[in-house]
Amino acid sequence: MQEFTADKQKCCNKNKIQKTFFIETWGCQMNEEDSEKLSGMLKKMGYEEAKNKYHADLIILNTCCVRENAELKVYGHLGALKNLKKRNPELIIALCGCMMQQKHMAENIMKKFPFVDMIFGTYNAYKFPQYLNEVCQNRSSVVEIQNSESGIVEGVPVDRESTIKAFVTIMYGCNNFCTYCIVPYVRGRERSRSPLNIENEIKNLVSKGCREVTLLGQNVNSYGKDLDPEVKFSELLERINNIEGLERIRFMTSHPKDLTDDVIDAVAKCDKVCEQIHLPVQSGSTNILKKMNRNYSREQYLSLIYKIKEKIPGAAITTDIMVGFPGESEKDFEDTLNLVREVGYDSAFTFIYSRRRGTPADKFEEQIPEDIKHERFNRLVKIVNESSARKNRAYEGRTEEILVEGLSKNDSTRLMGRTRTGKLVNFQGDVNSIGELIKVKISKAHSFSLLGKQIQ
Ligand code: SAH
Ligand code: SF4
Ligand code: F3S
Repeated sequence: MQEFTADKQKCCNKNKIQKTFFIETWGCQMNEEDSEKLSGMLKKMGYEEAKNKYHADLIILNTCCVRENAELKVYGHLGALKNLKKRNPELIIALCGCMMQQKHMAENIMKKFPFVDMIFGTYNAYKFPQYLNEVCQNRSSVVEIQNSESGIVEGVPVDRESTIKAFVTIMYGCNNFCTYCIVPYVRGRERSRSPLNIENEIKNLVSKGCREVTLLGQNVNSYGKDLDPEVKFSELLERINNIEGLERIRFMTSHPKDLTDDVIDAVAKCDKVCEQIHLPVQSGSTNILKKMNRNYSREQYLSLIYKIKEKIPGAAITTDIMVGFPGESEKDFEDTLNLVREVGYDSAFTFIYSRRRGTPADKFEEQIPEDIKHERFNRLVKIVNESSARKNRAYEGRTEEILVEGLSKNDSTRLMGRTRTGKLVNFQGDVNSIGELIKVKISKAHSFSLLGKQIQ
């Protein structure tokens, strides 16, 4: 473990009264967290957040490469930034994140978009202040992609969006190498943070008004296997459950092959751990799961689901599903649809398989034609939406505990918050209850949210 040191951060904004930055983030919470850290470091260096990219002195694109469309968005943005840079040659443009962690990508970007000032990957993001100083002082570009991950760097300043709830990363990287997935190549092997550092971070958040934490990792169920002595994820849940002032604990992502009974029991037992499990299935066909290297069968997945339903009554179950994996037959796909019907998911992230260079599945024969992938995707989305709507309808008339997060996004006369099961609720209520746990009577269910009224 390394400790982030503040003395390396020299500010290069001497010549201007107030320099500003704008960060565009794609991808998952791992990237979100990295952006919060970049923002934290920049604020320590005296920068302020710009309202939009047109007014910023520094623009950072934090990229994702999990699917091709994530990469295409970055290219689109870079095209537009070229004009901004022409108008303001002082503008600094930086690229980081998972897409940049691939050396060939970084080289390609420098070739196609030579106006980019700085590129770094996920392994060395904590060195960003040093790179920024180099660019400012020498006005030359910095491209640095580290080949192997650093240990864990603690103490990097984090600039979090909400004070009421926070994401807390408990482990980095992934050891699973699902054959379609690029994440292990761009985020490295599993590294767990010490339970003490996690607890201290959460206690500090709670002292600033945080009531809910979501513990993050690509596979939180293998948390602590690399620590000496080993710490089980269920033990970590129990320790965090004892933190005074914290009200709710969530976690993601669970891998079906590692979700053990002790974790399910801990969720059932710990009063602060919410009844919500995100359990990506990817496919309902054992044949495809094998080719994906997921290490569980359809039957094993379903028996896990039944165990969860039995031990954690009313738990919301959500998932990730992919269609069009190489070799997926119509029968395999129908197995997925049937599994979705059988489980009755509260919601699901649905994806079209995207070939990723360097992953085994990219070289598999029997790649599925695009039109079939899209047709299957549309059929899947329909079934998933029906399932979500059915699950949401069951909330009508119920009274739910809500953690009030703020004003509704689309209607500022209403408040918004979530149930313990993670359902988004818009409701009429008292503005003074923001940050509080209250009771809301649910009057109506929509496909992706619920409507209600505060009763206490
Ligand atoms: N660690 C988590 C999530 C990782 S990425 C897990 O194992 O579940 C989030 C989701 O993106 C995955 O669950 C998967 O459904 C999807 N995904 C990953 N690689 C993909 C690819 N090449 N094409 C399409 N979807 C992909
Ligand atoms: Fe990717 Fe699989 Fe790791 Fe998830 S568990 S990040 S899908 S390799
Ligand atoms: Fe996340 Fe995308 Fe990287 S999904 S881990 S930001 S490749």
